[in-house]
Amino acid sequence: MTCHIDYQAPDGLLEGKIVLISGASAGIGRAAAMSYARHGATVILLGRSVSRLEGVYDAIEAMGAPQPAIFPLNLESATSQDYRAVAAKLEKEFGRLDGLLHNASILGERVAVEAYDPELWAKVMQVNFTATLGLTQVLLPLLERSASASVIFTSSSVGRRGRANWGAYSTSKFATEGLMQILADEHQGSAIRFNSLNPGATRTVMRQSAYPDEDPRVLRTPEEIMPTYLWLMGPDSESVNGQAFDAQPPKT
Ligand SMILES: NC(=O)c1ccc[n+]([C@@H]2O[C@H](COP(=O)([O-])OP(=O)(O)OC[C@H]3O[C@@H](n4cnc5c(N)ncnc54)[C@H](OP(=O)(O)O)[C@@H]3O)[C@@H](O)[C@H]2O)c1
Repeated sequence: MTCHIDYQAPDGLLEGKIVLISGASAGIGRAAAMSYARHGATVILLGRSVSRLEGVYDAIEAMGAPQPAIFPLNLESATSQDYRAVAAKLEKEFGRLDGLLHNASILGERVAVEAYDPELWAKVMQVNFTATLGLTQVLLPLLERSASASVIFTSSSVGRRGRANWGAYSTSKFATEGLMQILADEHQGSAIRFNSLNPGATRTVMRQSAYPDEDPRVLRTPEEIMPTYLWLMGPDSESVNGQAFDAQPPKT
């Protein structure tokens, strides 16, 4: 797995690009939205907490970056009609899509498969995988209108190797990796590329829920892991399709 943590993005890397980020209200998604906007992209902030999304919107406006847009959507209850509404609004307002960062996810519970609540398992699969699939399906025609589009699926180390007590979360990330590979193969030679990115241990609310006893100060912040997010969204990764990346080097 390659990592581009030392990548130095030029200021105008994403100038003129239209990029949608799911789960843009907090953690890594918020940092990615801010970072993409700072590098010139018009970012579409998708998520469920409108007040938090408005906070990101205001922070982007205050930087003097291109005016963002807020698309509220709760991925837990979203239906195919909602996904189509997102695509229709995007088409009307922007006409195409150059980048898509699938980032929104929930953790679920940390118990053995035998004890896992099946309803919670289904909820985790809905938010982390089914919604990702639904959004990708309706957004493909808009991505096809881009001269060069990048779709990034957020993975995890437990989406590449299963681990005890990671149940639905791990399964959803394996499914996400599979979807990425299928789409990459289906669109080989096209102007859209599909890759996955594992952020690695990062100082966010989700990480704290998964490891409540850990001192968060030992972890990189979302802002510190942005180089690979920028590299994979920008033109320097244009020839890369169907690959799995890490945002941080492996622990030594
Ligand atoms: N942090 C890590 O160490 C780590 C490690 C490996 C992989 N990852 C992956 O990195 C991604 C970001 O994680 P994070 O640590 O930044 O998590 P986080 O701080 O918990 O943020 C998750 C984001 O997803 C959104 N979200 C959750 N449920 C949603 C729903 N039903 N509808 C719409 N949006 C929803 C949240 O919105 P609200 O603001 O409304 O809650 C929030 O914006 C995830 O895919 C995660 O699996 C993280």
